[in-house]
Amino acid sequence: MYLDANATTPVAPEALDAMLPWLRGGHENPSAGHSGGKRAREAIERARGQVAALIGAEPGEIIFTGSGTESVNTAILSMHRLCGPGHALVSSIEHSAVLRGAAATGREVVEIPCLADGRVDVDAAQELMRGAAFVSLMTANNETGVIQPLAEIAALAREAGLPVHTDAVQAAGKIPLDVRDPAVEMLSVAAHKFYGPKGVGALFVRRKLRFEPMLHGGGQEQGRRSGTENTPGIVGMGAAAELAASRMPDAAARDAFEAAVNSGLDGVTLNGATAPRLPNTSHLSLDGCDAGGMLILLDEAGVACSAGSACMTGKSNPSHVQLAMGIPEARARTSLRVSFPRDATAETGAAAAEAVIAAASKLRRVQGHGVGPVSVYPVAG
Ligand SMILES: Cc1ncc(COP(=O)(O)O)c(C=O)c1O
Repeated sequence: MYLDANATTPVAPEALDAMLPWLRGGHENPSAGHSGGKRAREAIERARGQVAALIGAEPGEIIFTGSGTESVNTAILSMHRLCGPGHALVSSIEHSAVLRGAAATGREVVEIPCLADGRVDVDAAQELMRGAAFVSLMTANNETGVIQPLAEIAALAREAGLPVHTDAVQAAGKIPLDVRDPAVEMLSVAAHKFYGPKGVGALFVRRKLRFEPMLHGGGQEQGRRSGTENTPGIVGMGAAAELAASRMPDAAARDAFEAAVNSGLDGVTLNGATAPRLPNTSHLSLDGCDAGGMLILLDEAGVACSAGSACMTGKSNPSHVQLAMGIPEARARTSLRVSFPRDATAETGAAAAEAVIAAASKLRRVQGHGVGPVSVYPVAG
């Protein structure tokens, strides 16, 4: 049972079918003037339109990149180079692509604190906009699935004259997105989170926004991202984007899972559950159940999910997201992230709950006898 869809998703058959002709043939360089090159160019431009449609953008506002991380780093570097003095304002629960990308600019990085429900603090964000140069706030968090108050913060940033980038890598394909509402200057996505291939991402850059490329060279992507385009990957991303628009997950699996775990186990905390969340994501702490031990038992039972913390042998390190939410360290070490694929049903949720209840009960029995689990799984995605 694959319950790690926030880490990555399989390639949809339709996306694979779209890619295969470009892997078997269609090798011509999309910048070449001959007819094979022109065919590849046309396929890329079609994909650009498909990706643009998923987020309400115009095709000319989409730059293809090599990953979500590259999109995020490019956006932050561009704002860093073009904005005046001031700090980079990011949230305390961003993915490391944002946190490390911002730190790498050498600018002071100021973090918007997070509330206990997993949403960043809008009032604090407003305060911290004083003296800021630009803002990067994720659309939805990868660990908890909590959807962030992007609309409020983007509106405040607009009043303050600050450009906003949003890391929508986890949100794309799970909830509807529109770059005009809330209006943002830049937005990042990655194909492998919505049933496209790995190693291809896209960055939305609002028309007429001043922009500085991160990669320089042959001038591809209208000079905004040099490097010969990954035709099969881009075509696969386009097909996946088109499919994603009509196949967003619903909350049936997650809701059935949470209801069953809650009624079948004591000592369960559903983190972020009072805030709006991605429909596929459940983040829960299970009293007395080290997350690493849970992952081992679940893996043995054929269930793949993630710990809510990075784990090392014998010791789980609480994630920065959980700590920012004020989750005590001891509880953070017992957190699991269950992220359902989009075709999961209420039955999937019930089966997942059965596996989690069995693993937690076993672990509590073992730990009750003083045998600590050894865990080696880091959180992915
Ligand atoms: C919120 C978020 N941003 C950025 C990334 C980075 O994406 P990629 O691994 O495709 O570079 C991830 C991946 O897990 C993510 O969850």
